[in-house]
Order: sequence, then structure tokens, then C-alpha cells
Amino acid sequence: MMKKVFMVISLLALVFTLVACSGSQENANKAINEAAKNAKQENTEANKDASDSSLEDIKAKGKIVLGTSADFPPLEWVSYKDGGESYKGLDIEIAKAIADSLGVKLEIKNMAFEGLITSLNAGDVDMIIAGMEASDERKKEVDFSAPYYSGGQSLVVRAEDKDKFKTLDDLKGHKIGTQLNTVQQTFAEEKFGSDVQGYDLNNVLIEQLKNKSVDALFLSELPAKEFVYLNKDLAFIEDIGAPKEKGFSVAIKKGNQTLLDEVTKIVSELKDSGKVDTWLDENIELSHQEVEEGNK
Ligand code: ARG
Repeated sequence: MMKKVFMVISLLALVFTLVACSGSQENANKAINEAAKNAKQENTEANKDASDSSLEDIKAKGKIVLGTSADFPPLEWVSYKDGGESYKGLDIEIAKAIADSLGVKLEIKNMAFEGLITSLNAGDVDMIIAGMEASDERKKEVDFSAPYYSGGQSLVVRAEDKDKFKTLDDLKGHKIGTQLNTVQQTFAEEKFGSDVQGYDLNNVLIEQLKNKSVDALFLSELPAKEFVYLNKDLAFIEDIGAPKEKGFSVAIKKGNQTLLDEVTKIVSELKDSGKVDTWLDENIELSHQEVEEGNK
């Protein structure tokens, strides 16, 4: 610890000296870059020192357990195609690829979104992939891989109300539905306080909108679009003026650094190779097909 503090102080001293000596911006930049590089190296070395056995444990167990909330097409949903019941979606593809790359089986535990982080920290699941934003709030409780997707936040309303809602201000005085423990819930509650109603599952939200218990649903853009495709009596309002989400990532229990590093490596490769984009397109199409075949 003292060694680290000392290193940081000496690096800062180096930065100041370089700035003072030369007075040139170029040198100062060089020093800052150097300091950043060293800090990064320190970090990796520190991680290596504290190397945990989470990755080895998964391999020894021969399986990795995914926690998800399969009420979120096209990222995850339950498909009843061909009479059976299976999990589909972009997040499921990513989970399968992680399991394959680790050489282990994938087990899926489906639950309400609000319980996912508790399950991860209780050790009931090894990772969460559920269109979960790597928010600062959540980073206090769990670690996140590099992001694999970043999208907006949208509104779903009854088709006849489509022209009523153009900006966030138009929502004032209306009942707004969100899924419990989502960033949409936090954002809407900050803006609209007690007018926000939380529900555990997205299909419950859709019912509440249809039976007029709420007037608008605040959701991540991709599922919002899918729900409207699925329910022709609803309308999609893409941009209501809410900020984009920070990016969906895989959540891993804190302290499981070796597993986190490996998952980040795999996810980054999937993203860089264009696989994530392809899977997303394929799963949007698959989800639409299932609607058309009446399998949902
Ligand atoms: N993206 C939002 C969040 O991170 C909502 C995620 C909900 N996911 C789900 N599978 N229901 O809070």
C-alpha cells in the first residue's frame, strides 16, 4: 500500500518536474501518458498478486451458471417454438460463447431482474447477462466486463396516445411504469417521483399499460421496439429526450478477477469481430418470426 502511495507521489512529482523544467505542453503530456501507463501496469501486477481461483473453479466445476431475466427480447426471451421451452436472444448467444470458450457447460437460471445482483453475490449464479447497464450505482456491488452493446431509452404507450408524448415534460402528471431495479426506474423516479410504478416483469408492465393502470412504459430501446412489434395496439416513441444507457456488460461477483478478465477478453473479441452485431440482427429476426408464427 505504502509502496503504491509512494509510487503515485513520485509519478506526480515527475509530472510537475517535467512541466516546470521544460514549460512545454508536449513534455507534460508525455509525462502524464507515462504515468498512466505505469499505473495500468501496477494495476495488472496488483491483480496478479491477488490472483483468485474463480476461473479455475468454473473450469473444475465443468459449468458456468448464467443469471438472466428472460423477459427482454431480443436480448433474452423464452421461446416455446416446437412445443419445447428454450432461452433465446443475443445475451444467450454471448453466454453460450463464454461457456464454449471456457470449455464448460452453460446452465441458465431465469428470474426477475430485481433479484439478479443478490443472486450473483449469494453465489447462486456465476455471471449476469441481462441487458444490464454497467451503472455507477451497480459498480459498488458487482464488477462489469467491457460493454457489448449501447443503446437508448424509449417509451411505449397505447397506440391512441402516440401523439400525446413528445418530450419528457409531457409525461408529467401521468403514471409511468418501469421494471423494478432498472436504470429506467431510477431515472423516472428522479424526474417524476411518485408517479412512477415499478413491476417485476416486463410482460406485467405491458398488461398494466393495456389495462390503463399506467400511461407509459419507460424501457431500454431494443425491447421497447420489440414489445410494440409484438403488440400492435401499442406505439413506440424512440426518442423522448432521455440519455443513452452507458452500455450493457456482463456482471461478475467482486473479487473474481481472473473470471472477470477472461470474460472481458471473450466479450471484447465477440464485439470486435462483429459477432455481437450479427447475433443481434439474427435475434431480432428470430423474435419477429416467432411472433408471426404465433409462438409467443
Ligand atoms: N437496461 C436496463 C438496466 O440495466 C434494463 C435491463 C432489464 N433487463 C431484463 N432482462 N429485464 O437497468
